Amino acid sequence: MKARDPIVEIVSTGRYLPDRVLTNADLEKIVATTDEWIMERTGIRERRIAGPEMGAAEMGARAARIAMERANVLPGEVDVIVVSTATPDRLLPSTACDMQALLGATNAAAYDISAACSGFIYALSVAEGHIASGNAEIALVVSTEKMSGIVDWTDRATCVLFGDGAGAAVVRRAGTGRGAVLSSFMRSDGTLAELLWRPAGGVKVPMDIAVLDEKSHLVKMAGREVFKSAVRSMAEAADQALMRAGLTGADIDLLVPHQANMRIIDATARYAGVPMDRVFVNVDRYGNMSSATVPIALDEAAEQGRLKQGDHVMLVAFGAGFTWASAVLRW
Ligand SMILES: CC(C)(COP(=O)(O)OP(=O)(O)OC[C@H]1O[C@@H](n2cnc3c(N)ncnc32)[C@H](O)[C@@H]1OP(=O)(O)O)[C@@H](O)C(=O)NCCC(=O)NCCS
Repeated sequence: MKARDPIVEIVSTGRYLPDRVLTNADLEKIVATTDEWIMERTGIRERRIAGPEMGAAEMGARAARIAMERANVLPGEVDVIVVSTATPDRLLPSTACDMQALLGATNAAAYDISAACSGFIYALSVAEGHIASGNAEIALVVSTEKMSGIVDWTDRATCVLFGDGAGAAVVRRAGTGRGAVLSSFMRSDGTLAELLWRPAGGVKVPMDIAVLDEKSHLVKMAGREVFKSAVRSMAEAADQALMRAGLTGADIDLLVPHQANMRIIDATARYAGVPMDRVFVNVDRYGNMSSATVPIALDEAAEQGRLKQGDHVMLVAFGAGFTWASAVLRW
C-alpha cells in the first residue's frame, strides 16, 4: 500500500491520573495474590484508583483542558469531541456530552465510541474522518477509563491488572508537519467477544438481583486466550501501520504500545524489530487503563523528551471485542 499525505496532526496531548496509588502490597490484603506473581506475569507494580466522586467525564475533561491549553485552543473552537471509553459514567447520554458541558465546548458535536483498549486509535481515525470530510477543523480525542468501577475486586485474575486514568489529544488538519498521522489500521473479531467481556447489565441480560449476585455485570476474562490473541493481533497491527506508512521497524524511533502487560509489550517490540530502548513503558506504574493507556503514554513520552521533531512514532493497541489498531505518526 502506498503511503498517503497526512490528513491530520496531533497538536498536543494531556493526561489525568488520580492521586491514589494502589500497590501490589495493597492488593495482597484484598485477594490471594503476591507482588512476585503480579510482577512476574504482568510487570505491574502499582496502579491509580479514582475516588467515588470522580467519573469518566471529569477525568477526561481534566486531561482535555491540559491538551487544549497546550494547543492554545479555546473550548468554543472545538468542532467535535470523540470520546473512547469502556467505562461510561452512565449508559445514556454519552460521556462525551457530559464532557462537552464540563468544558463549555458550545460549538462541538460530542459522542462516545466503544472499542475497548484500541479506542484511542479508533477515535483518532474517527476524528481524521470528520476533518477529511470538512465537517470539522479541530477535534478533541479523549480516552477516559475508570476500570476500577467495572472489575470484580474478588477476582484475583483480573483485578490486579487494571487502573484508572484519562488521556487527550487536540487533533487538527495537517499543516505544520508536526504530529502528522502518516498511517492507521483497525480490525475487529467479534467471534472472540466472550474471552473478555461484561456478560450482563445491558439490554439483552438486564441488571437484576441474579446479575448482581453472580457479578456478571463485571469484567470476565480468559487470560491465557486473551494473551495469545493480543500477541498475534499486535503483531499484525504493527505490520499494517508500518506497511501503510512505507516504513519498517528500523525506522521507528519510539513504539508506544498499549500497556496491558510487559510480556505482550516485549513480544510486540521483538516482532516489530524495535529494540526495547525505543519502546515506551509505564505499565509498571499504571497497569492497564484500557484506551487511556496509549494517549497517557504518548503524553508522558513527550514530556520526558523522548519525542524529537521528525521522529517516527508507532502506536499499537489491542482490546476487548476483540479490536486491534495501530498508527504511525511523524512527531
Ligand atoms: C492474566 C495473566 C497475567 C495470567 O497469567 P498466566 O501465565 O496466563 O496464568 P494463568 O491464567 O494460566 O494462571 C496461572 C495460575 O495463577 C493463578 N492466578 C491468577 N491470578 C492470580 C493472581 N493475581 N495472583 C496469584 N495467582 C493468580 C491462577 O488461578 C492459576 O492457578 P492454577 O494454575 O492453580 O489454576 C495472563 O494470562 C495475561 O496477561 N493475559 C492477558 C490479559 C490482558 O492483558 N488483558 C487485557 C487485554 S487488553
